[in-house]
Amino acid sequence: MCGIVGYAGAGSAKAMILSGLRSLEYRGYDSAGIALVRKGKLLVRKESGKLDALESKVGAADFDAQLGIGHTRWATHGAPTRENAHPHTSVDGRIAIVHNGIIENFMQLKQELITKHGIRFQSETDSEVIAHLIGVHYRGDLVGALRAAAKRMHGAYAVAVVCADEPDQIVAIRKDAPLVAGICEEGGLLASDIPALLKYTRDVYLIENDEIVIVTKGAVQIFDEEMTRMNRTKTHIDWDAQAAEKGGYEHFMIKEINEEPMGVRETLRHRLDANGELLLDDLEFTKEELDAIDRIYIVACGTASHAGLVGKPVIEKYARIPVEVDLSSEFRYRNPIVTERTLVICISQSGETSDTLEALREAKRRGAKILSIVNVVGSSVARASDHVFYTWAGPEIAVASTKAYTTQIVSLYLIALHMGRLRGTVKEAESKKLVGELLEAPDLIAKVIKDEKRIMELAKAHYKKEKIFFVGRGSDVATAQEASLKLKEITYINSFAIAAGELKHGTIALITRDVLFFAVATQNYLYEKMLSNIEEMKARQAQVVAVAKKGDKRISQAADDTFFFPDCSDEVAPIVAIIFFQMFAYHVAKLRGRNIDQPRNLAKSVTVE
Ligand code: M6R
Repeated sequence: MCGIVGYAGAGSAKAMILSGLRSLEYRGYDSAGIALVRKGKLLVRKESGKLDALESKVGAADFDAQLGIGHTRWATHGAPTRENAHPHTSVDGRIAIVHNGIIENFMQLKQELITKHGIRFQSETDSEVIAHLIGVHYRGDLVGALRAAAKRMHGAYAVAVVCADEPDQIVAIRKDAPLVAGICEEGGLLASDIPALLKYTRDVYLIENDEIVIVTKGAVQIFDEEMTRMNRTKTHIDWDAQAAEKGGYEHFMIKEINEEPMGVRETLRHRLDANGELLLDDLEFTKEELDAIDRIYIVACGTASHAGLVGKPVIEKYARIPVEVDLSSEFRYRNPIVTERTLVICISQSGETSDTLEALREAKRRGAKILSIVNVVGSSVARASDHVFYTWAGPEIAVASTKAYTTQIVSLYLIALHMGRLRGTVKEAESKKLVGELLEAPDLIAKVIKDEKRIMELAKAHYKKEKIFFVGRGSDVATAQEASLKLKEITYINSFAIAAGELKHGTIALITRDVLFFAVATQNYLYEKMLSNIEEMKARQAQVVAVAKKGDKRISQAADDTFFFPDCSDEVAPIVAIIFFQMFAYHVAKLRGRNIDQPRNLAKSVTVE
């Protein structure tokens, strides 16, 4: 996804901006650009491709200044070409903007700018309208022009602007797209994402919706819509820049898989006291409030929605409240039955996923209470929620989500127990039992990670397959779906997941010798059923690899091959078994020579619809 960086100081703006953009490379991009203000002139360079291309273009010493903005673009409107790259400039070339998000009414604005002002557009982007809108409103006051332009813009945006006539300041505004600012010895900083600032400061200002921020060499000033100065305290960021680097691993993805025992342990540690008692009082639910809730929706996208599928039966079991899991992109448009008695649980690693944020707002408008499970502190989803449960996965950089998933499941389990305890629907002993099992999960996960050789063996045996499908029952359907998503997003192998009982209703027709089926068999109460499904597939000559608990001889006799993970309870099994699938996908992708951390067409957080 796009990244924004701005710098106003005494040092080299070019160097600071390029360094900031480099620390956002992990987000994925396909073009980059920079605009600097020097001696009353605006210097703009942009290139398609990676930052190296831009860097070589701005290498010359005379292409430097002490103030500027930069951008990495992930194409949405228009191809990833130099013309479509940001910054975009006003007609007179004195104002430059960078933009993250989407201007929904850009066609209408563009038409108006063409007919009323005779403007000739240089790109196919929605963002270029912002530069021209500011340009036509500019009367020697950049802040005023940006405010006037923003009044016309519908959609989501973080916009940073510089002007050759105002060489001391960067002006920015945000609405539903992240923006942060900071001050350090080198000067004032602005960025779309915290990692871009971490090299210089850990104390950042989180800019809120509709706020205007002015960044100069020595100050960050924040104003509301009416230009009333806001007194914002800085947020201290605990995790350091090192944590966002690979730490000796070949890829972020494998590093993050290796961090899963720690992520799960930390998520538990922050929510359990020394006696294993739940510490969730900060969620501020009362028994009366919970008793009034008659329905829970879990709303999320992608991997986060699969975590929701694992959490659903556990919440229903312990809290005895009906739960529906919905994709954010569906929920927001389907007129869901939401009342004051509804609780919506939004799950999002980044907390910036546009569909989830909009689904949240829709639920709020209809009177629901919002509890979010989020990894990024201070993110938009977190800020828009009534209650927040932070996962302690640490920064997740690889596009393929791994440690966020296991910590999200653990969070849902703890929430289920907390609700159950408050409502009196779960006995203390039952709650202690699950907590005890969860406390063992980090070690069980570590055991699967240690089995890497065996996982690589299976990856080697199957990496050339063109079709790999996943089946399971109960919560293994969610595991199958997540396993399939992991595989397709980083290996590009054709894959889908299906409830095993559904095979005979159509999909069984796809079985041929060259199709590989993974049968996820972690649920004791569904064991016999799953065994019959494996036999059903084998009878039609499918190749079947089972993923089952250690010592399961019957399954290993029925399937062609088996990966054994350590024995554990049915509830903990989804957290442990998924590690195998994450690592299998990783090693297959490696053998296929894929760009593992930044797969094609994908970005880490999807902040546009
Ligand atoms: O940041 P979020 O958790 O809201 O992101 C949701 C999905 O985009 C995300 O889980 C996506 O499916 C993963 N990158 C897949 O590995």
